[in-house]
Amino acid sequence: MDIMRGLRESVAGFLMHSSQPKHQPIGIFDSGVGGLSVYQAIRHALPDEDLLYIADSHNAPYGERSSEFIIARAIALTEFLISHGAKAVVVACNTATVIAVDILRQRFSIPIIALEPAIKPAVAHSQSGTVGVLATRRTVESPSVARLCRDYAADARVMLQPCPGFVERVELGDIDSPATLDLVAQHLAPLLQSGADTLVLGCTHYVYLRAAIQQVAGGNVLVLDSSEAVARQVARRICTTLPLGAPPRQARETLFTTALSPHQVSTVMSRLLGKDVRVEFAEI
Ligand code: DGL
Repeated sequence: MDIMRGLRESVAGFLMHSSQPKHQPIGIFDSGVGGLSVYQAIRHALPDEDLLYIADSHNAPYGERSSEFIIARAIALTEFLISHGAKAVVVACNTATVIAVDILRQRFSIPIIALEPAIKPAVAHSQSGTVGVLATRRTVESPSVARLCRDYAADARVMLQPCPGFVERVELGDIDSPATLDLVAQHLAPLLQSGADTLVLGCTHYVYLRAAIQQVAGGNVLVLDSSEAVARQVARRICTTLPLGAPPRQARETLFTTALSPHQVSTVMSRLLGKDVRVEFAEI
């Protein structure tokens, strides 16, 4: 009995202290706080992995920015995450994905994992045949979304709805005020009037408006997002660098923002995550 226990402990000790690679975090970025919805899904799927998040709050929102600007920011944020040891980078931003993901994949050798609006499952679920996609203007006008509609929605009516103002509300942490509900009602009106019974959240910020969107749309409308799907993809793509046989550990979570007032971002992120977090300033 004692011999077996001693053997188990020496094997675990050997594995922990020998040739195991240094533990590396998963890097995640977004224009702001919205990508935390993806961060939370990854945390849930991979509770032992260290996570490193950067919000480009100083430059949010990306939705109306030029492609050149978004590409330059996506490259700079990815370089920042890699310089902090990231073993994979998750683009937790639909807008940056449709504009910059191909360039990131050409430029960097680590896995670059991105998300796309859940148009395929939405069409499969819809009974009315009308699906609404809520996203930024850059996303709804992108060739990637046109391709998704062509590939998966030939027999459905997909209504693409840009939602100016949503990202700004979430950046302020205002996800449930009367003004936010009014704005949600305004953007949802054309979709609901056309009989959409399934709504796709095609922007990671909008996940934090889910309760408001559901309230306006009513209980018969299904609201879908992509965060769990991207978390599953991250779990498939990454190699764990946690030592085999190591005891359970407290995974590290490091949050950065490019905002000049990280304290304000800490308050909003704490509200969205439902726990107190401290966000550090990064000059990029
Ligand atoms: N979270 C980003 C997205 O998924 C928001 C883009 C923006 O900053 O406008 O598209």
